[in-house]
Amino acid sequence: MAILDKHKILETNATLLLVFSFLVVTIGGLVQIVPLFYLENTIEDVEGMRPYTPLELAGREVYLREGCYVCHSQMIRPMRDEVERYGHYSLAAESQYDHPFQWGSKRTGPDLARVGGRYSDDWHVDHLRDAQSVVPESVMPKYGYLEKKLIDGEYMSDLLRTNAFVGVPYTSEMIEAAQADFRAQADPDSDYDGLLERYGDNVNVRNFDSQPGISEADALIAYLQMLGTLVDFSTFTPDASR
Ligand code: HEC
Repeated sequence: MAILDKHKILETNATLLLVFSFLVVTIGGLVQIVPLFYLENTIEDVEGMRPYTPLELAGREVYLREGCYVCHSQMIRPMRDEVERYGHYSLAAESQYDHPFQWGSKRTGPDLARVGGRYSDDWHVDHLRDAQSVVPESVMPKYGYLEKKLIDGEYMSDLLRTNAFVGVPYTSEMIEAAQADFRAQADPDSDYDGLLERYGDNVNVRNFDSQPGISEADALIAYLQMLGTLVDFSTFTPDASR
């Protein structure tokens, strides 16, 4: 057991052990970190992903402010029980425009990564107002006040600009039209062609809370209804070349 004897030298000499441990950790670190400098992007581009529309982004701000993430994650793990319950596991690209991302492991309520389109807008209005009215055993708090708080979106350009600053590909045209796009999405009678041109045909244009004016509930429901709906998983194939 000559090799073990040699190892004994290391184990009985604290300084030597420290030097060698440092060496091992350095090599391990380099192996992990160096390739990242040579990759242009660590996120595989996936068809269908687009930045949030101004209304969705405003809804996301409400989501963050209200701390919905305390009870809800937005990350489906590639495990059978999760995929069967929530749908296709989450891709890195699906949170590439999230600042900050909404992953997490704490779930008092269900994962929301693919909740978009699962319920009607009316269901969401009722559920936000009083979750127990639609799910009697729910412990989710009441958020009825959101539909009473109107927002005019005057800060939308700033919000988009801030996101562009951290890497979301908002164009100057999107930033300029932010407030108009914000209003157009919540009003199906408006001229929303520009909005669809900028963000794509998969944008939901509706009066989400069925009440006059654009409320925080409108924005939040617009956000919830698009979650997980952008990537078409009937055509998606993971890129195995990476
Ligand atoms: C105290 C924990 C808690 C907080 C905070 C919370 N929720 Fe929930 N949520 C739940 C629970 C529990 C459920 C499951 C029962 C139900 O449907 O009400 C749920 C369900 C949901 C559902 C339905 C999901 C599904 O797939 O059936 C949505 C949508 C939702 N919450 C949105 C929100 C939003 C938006 C916020 C923030 C404004 C929020 N929740 C805050 C606990 C919470």
